[in-house]
Amino acid sequence: MGGFIMRTLKFAWLAALAALAACQKPVSDPSVRGERYFNALGCAQCHQVGDKGGIYGPNLTFVGFRKNPQWLDLWLKDPHSWRKETVMPNFNLTEEARTALVAYLSAQKGQAWTPESRPWNHPTVGDSVKRGELLFDKAGCVACHAQKGRGGYPNNNVMGGQIPSLSRVFETYTKDELIKRISGGVIPESADPSQPPPMIQMPKWGDVLSPAELSLVADYLLSLGGSAGNKSDW
Ligand code: HEC
Ligand code: HEC
Repeated sequence: MGGFIMRTLKFAWLAALAALAACQKPVSDPSVRGERYFNALGCAQCHQVGDKGGIYGPNLTFVGFRKNPQWLDLWLKDPHSWRKETVMPNFNLTEEARTALVAYLSAQKGQAWTPESRPWNHPTVGDSVKRGELLFDKAGCVACHAQKGRGGYPNNNVMGGQIPSLSRVFETYTKDELIKRISGGVIPESADPSQPPPMIQMPKWGDVLSPAELSLVADYLLSLGGSAGNKSDW
């Protein structure tokens, strides 16, 4: 309890400092202000954009491609209301800070890397399965399908309430079918048509990944062989 209060105070204090930092030289571009908040609040202690930052939470280089602004806003408002066991703290952001951060995050569509500097395209990474595993992690498949594709992350208004596990796709897909599925994306069906549609969609990865990259991540998924994956914090 005491720890919780201390943590809450710490983030409230941080948020106040960040507001100061972001206001020093007023800029009209909200995504530039968002980047200042991102740095001032210490988001980079847990998150990378490009190759800079901590690796505790998901890499955010493609976050604006994979997550829509509406969901990002909800997440930043209260991460635990979406996923109660998440270790991402609630920063108690002001509306101004949250709006700026959403603008910054939404603008992250992969441009922090060139196609050649994407980590999985470095020649020393290893075979296609190893490269596919790195892509799964750094492009952020992991942010929806969890470590090793084990699934279990929430979605609203879908059957079962979760984003699917990928650990058994080797049983149901050929490699070509799998590549097509990843490339084309999917808009999940609403479990209850009278409720708001699911906020999380399977992105059309063919818009940002080359055929060679899609083939790498398909090789990785087919190698999972039903393994449940490691236990980890997120
Ligand atoms: C203590 C580490 C930590 C800090 C600090 C942190 N995050 Fe996170 N964040 C996480 C983790 C871990 C996840 C993965 C969520 C989960 O699995 O529950 C996450 C998830 C996210 C997501 C969703 C990612 C995706 O790829 O879909 C966004 C966006 C995000 N954080 C933004 C931020 C911002 C902005 C800040 C600073 C205001 C921040 N985070 C600070 C740990 C952190
Ligand atoms: C923003 C969240 C999100 C991200 C990021 C994401 N997916 Fe998905 N994915 C989904 C959702 C939601 C579905 C389920 C769609 C449906 O209702 O059929 C899905 C479905 C799939 C399926 C079909 C599973 C099945 O059982 O038929 C595959 C394969 C897949 N994703 C692979 C990937 C790969 C590979 C990546 C990274 C390149 C990725 N996904 C990134 C949300 C995501």
